[in-house]
Amino acid sequence: MARKKLIAGNWKMNGLLSEGVDLAKEIVAEVKKLGKPGCEFLICPPATLLTSVKKTLRGAKVALGAQDSHWENKGAHTGDISPAMIKEIGCTYVILGHSERRADHGETNEIVAKKAKAAHENGLKTIICIGESEAERDSGKTLDVCTSQIAGSVPEDSTAADTVIAYEPIWAIGTGKTPTPADVEEVHAAVRKALAKKLGKAQASKMRILYGGSVKPGNAKEFLSLEDVDGALIGGASLKAADFLGIAKNAGCC
Ligand code: PGA
Repeated sequence: MARKKLIAGNWKMNGLLSEGVDLAKEIVAEVKKLGKPGCEFLICPPATLLTSVKKTLRGAKVALGAQDSHWENKGAHTGDISPAMIKEIGCTYVILGHSERRADHGETNEIVAKKAKAAHENGLKTIICIGESEAERDSGKTLDVCTSQIAGSVPEDSTAADTVIAYEPIWAIGTGKTPTPADVEEVHAAVRKALAKKLGKAQASKMRILYGGSVKPGNAKEFLSLEDVDGALIGGASLKAADFLGIAKNAGCC
């Protein structure tokens, strides 16, 4: 079965209310022009914008996601947001274990797996992020790091219906630097193998694995045409509707 490509925008900590709503409106208008897009679109604004952006997305073929959620549904966790809360707002996806959260908030594989399990229990789809640092790449540890992140961060009972993996080399995020397409394909193939070991071949062959890290309209085709690349997780370029849509168009998937 062909895996439908997912074009996901991670807005990170960007956008005040009017900017975020305007951007969502522009994206909706562009996606509408496509009629029946062959790929799936997702935007993940900061938590403060989810409710307003959700209204903008009414009737549009653009899904809404959050950038993080806790492993509990309620309780004494100041500043955190629970999976039940984002589900209630209308999110269908949540990004978990982004390298910025692993670095800024000390999130371990174990924490990411706990969060993913809770998100799944609440009917959310997860985008679980993995990826090596520059030092790990330079010392030849890329495949080991990525496969052990899969082993540790993906809950045992995950399925292709509730889980997407995003491979994002940390050194490629927001830097303009990217691995070669051959390097990306090598990692994605290894990740799929690690998923097969953990979840069985049937789920692994259906599960989408996104590439993320300095994806732009200009390099979209070289990454998104690779055998095991099933879409993109886009940071900087997702903040401009033309670039976000340009990635999907140039990749030939919408
Ligand atoms: P970037 O970010 O596209 O700005 O490199 C990607 C990400 O961190 O998800």
